[in-house]
Amino acid sequence: MSGLRVVVIGAGAHIFPSHQRGLRAIGAEIVGVQDIDLGRARPVADELGCPLREDIAQLLQTPADLAVIVTPHPVHAEHATACLRAGLHVLVEKPIAVEVAEADAMLREAERCRRLLCVAFQQRTRSEVQEARRLIQLGFLGDLQRADLLATWPRRSSYFGTAPWRGTWRGEGGGVLINQGQHDLDLLCYLAGMPSRVVGSTRTRVHPIETEDTVAALVEWPRGAVGSIHLSTAEADEAERIELTGTAGRLRLLRGHLELFRNEVDFREYAASTDNPYAPPSTHRLAPVSGAGGVTRTCTAISSERSPVRVRRSRPATRQPSPSSLRTRSPTRRSRGPKSGCRSTAAHTATSSARSAPRVWPRDDARTKERTARWLRPSGS
Ligand SMILES: NC(=O)c1ccc[n+]([C@@H]2O[C@H](COP(=O)([O-])OP(=O)(O)OC[C@H]3O[C@@H](n4cnc5c(N)ncnc54)[C@H](O)[C@@H]3O)[C@@H](O)[C@H]2O)c1
Repeated sequence: MSGLRVVVIGAGAHIFPSHQRGLRAIGAEIVGVQDIDLGRARPVADELGCPLREDIAQLLQTPADLAVIVTPHPVHAEHATACLRAGLHVLVEKPIAVEVAEADAMLREAERCRRLLCVAFQQRTRSEVQEARRLIQLGFLGDLQRADLLATWPRRSSYFGTAPWRGTWRGEGGGVLINQGQHDLDLLCYLAGMPSRVVGSTRTRVHPIETEDTVAALVEWPRGAVGSIHLSTAEADEAERIELTGTAGRLRLLRGHLELFRNEVDFREYAASTDNPYAPPSTHRLAPVSGAGGVTRTCTAISSERSPVRVRRSRPATRQPSPSSLRTRSPTRRSRGPKSGCRSTAAHTATSSARSAPRVWPRDDARTKERTARWLRPSGS
């Protein structure tokens, strides 16, 4: 048993069984649940053998450590604030809130109450995502040139009828951008850093809903990288594809799969060289990395008051990464981030990414090139 005592707000939610599995895996004890629809939450309370409340104030009188909030997005801010003020740590479902101002207020409240506020961006804990981030932080990509995101979450129109709030401005505050696409947008920022400029357009192409089912955007990053975003619940295509191209290499992240490519020399060096002007640069494909998702890791991190993802304060690149540190490995280890204090993980990542110092790798010297050549294990190009 972790000894973690948990209360749940919105316990009748479709997503709650996933939280239940994670909480069970770490031996947390659910000591009370709440929902405005008692009929939906009663089977949950009966299964758990814990009290069911209709009123949040009543629920918050139960001695507990953590509140898990699985209500619809427009009430996340109100519910999280009530739980923080009652002295609980909070795991709130994504999106953190509908309005940026609400999210900012939640962060301030968490800081004031000295409690953890965590958003359920569990996709970050996928091992292939963690491996991509590790490599990027070691300079695998060199200077980022392009970042593209495609994600489709095909839904039948009947999906939007499974809860009255879905697909409405008042009930959801947006469509694919604020709901399904949150995960992909979070991963894009987690890996490429926070963009500095976004120009986009939204459409409702297929579904009979108020909010958007399709989004396209052009994106710029502070150091000049450019890219694109395409999200849709109205198309069938790859579930998720994030491609990052840098001067030293590129990566392609799919669900459960990470493909890696290295340039033999940094693209800027290739561009400046005087050989055949039409000869493409040599590129090596590295062994791909298989991954898996981890709902449990988020809960484990909360139970130990650690951030569920590794959060690093950026340091200027004083040392070039060695080939052995860049070599891909089976990413099964646990993240050991520092205590995240009272900031949300999203805010931590945004802060640390925005401050990232530029890195250039491989270094432009013969010894590094020779070591790189030894390290690379081509399996095609
Ligand atoms: N992290 C993920 O992968 C993931 C997946 C699915 C859903 N979600 C998020 O989880 C949240 C819930 O989604 P869902 O599809 O499970 O919703 P749902 O409609 O199935 O469940 C929401 C529950 O909250 C209850 N509720 C509504 N208003 C309430 C209030 N004011 N007070 C107390 N209870 C209230 C409802 O009665 C219902 O039982 C959403 O924010 C959604 O974005 C996250």
